[in-house]
Amino acid sequence: MRKVKISALGCYTPERVLTNFELEKLVATSNEWILERTGISERHIAGPEMATSDLAFEAARVALAQRGIDASELDAILVSTVTPDMMFPSTACLVQNRLGARKAWGFDLVAACSGFVYGLTTGAHLVGGGTHQKVLVIGADTMSRIIDYTDRGTCILFGDGAGAMLLEPLAETDDANAGFLDFLGEIDGSGGDSLYMPAGGSRLPASAETVRDRKHYVHQDGAQVFKYAVRKMYEICQNLLARNGLTAKDVGVMIPHQANRRIIIATAERLGIDCEKVVINIERYGNTTAGTIPLAARDALQSGRLKKGDLVLFAAVGAGYTVGAALWRWAM
Ligand code: COA
Repeated sequence: MRKVKISALGCYTPERVLTNFELEKLVATSNEWILERTGISERHIAGPEMATSDLAFEAARVALAQRGIDASELDAILVSTVTPDMMFPSTACLVQNRLGARKAWGFDLVAACSGFVYGLTTGAHLVGGGTHQKVLVIGADTMSRIIDYTDRGTCILFGDGAGAMLLEPLAETDDANAGFLDFLGEIDGSGGDSLYMPAGGSRLPASAETVRDRKHYVHQDGAQVFKYAVRKMYEICQNLLARNGLTAKDVGVMIPHQANRRIIIATAERLGIDCEKVVINIERYGNTTAGTIPLAARDALQSGRLKKGDLVLFAAVGAGYTVGAALWRWAM
């Protein structure tokens, strides 16, 4: 496999910000409780005119502009999402059309909060295999569309957002050790009913009853998901580091999925990764599902915490359950 690098990064969050104080008016909660139990202070919410493909398109535009290329150069577009504009066509097709990416093929990938890590790895293999030169991997979700704003256990957690990373072969001028290094994934469908949206698919198609029974919203056993996330995020990272002959000390920057600040801190502490090396921006965005990792990478780049040559550990746990971790050496 040839070496693959992340050559551009673009993100988008809608303008409207929903604060904890506004949520206090919707459900029995408080700013203090949300901050203490989750680390979230505010999240962005898409206006009624926007859908997931619009967020994805905006993030893609930023990434392409950063690299200075036209969308017609893309060979493939992968969109990780659990909130597509509609069941079909795929969000990838909608984004391809809006971008004018004439020669790109692509598809949507459903892995919830692990979606971006899965997409990045799939894209890395397309480029690494030698058949693709430029693959755009997007993580985009409009969670506000499937959140029940009368359920205090879920409505406080999620926000809307998108991020895109461009993948290309490593150039001769790049450090030969940079780019994609390794990935470990795991799925465990036995946990499917701990976090899911019951209706709207072929099992329970939309009907007056499913709407009445609020089955088109996220249903979650928060405590169960929390315990699973803390255990599996640690395990997958530990196994990935070990099989590469690395330890926590070698990690330059950890960019975890942002589901809950306490999950991230507990994982980092168990791994023995210094908290200064762990990127946390959940305070301003909440959990944007497939959008969290590129949003966190963007913030880390902008603040100077993520630099060329850093060994980056991406990690996520999500509905499914899905679990994934990846090691990259940053090349930008
Ligand atoms: N405001 C105030 N109280 C709340 C609340 C809220 N928004 N949500 C729940 N509570 C209450 C509960 O009803 C419960 O009250 P009770 O003891 O009277 O029954 C109490 O707080 C403790 O509930 P618990 O569920 O144990 O809280 P928690 O500390 O586990 O926090 C979550 C709840 C949802 C924040 C937490 O479980 C979590 O983050 N889970 C993982 C969710 C996740 O990451 N999902 C996405 C995966 S990618």
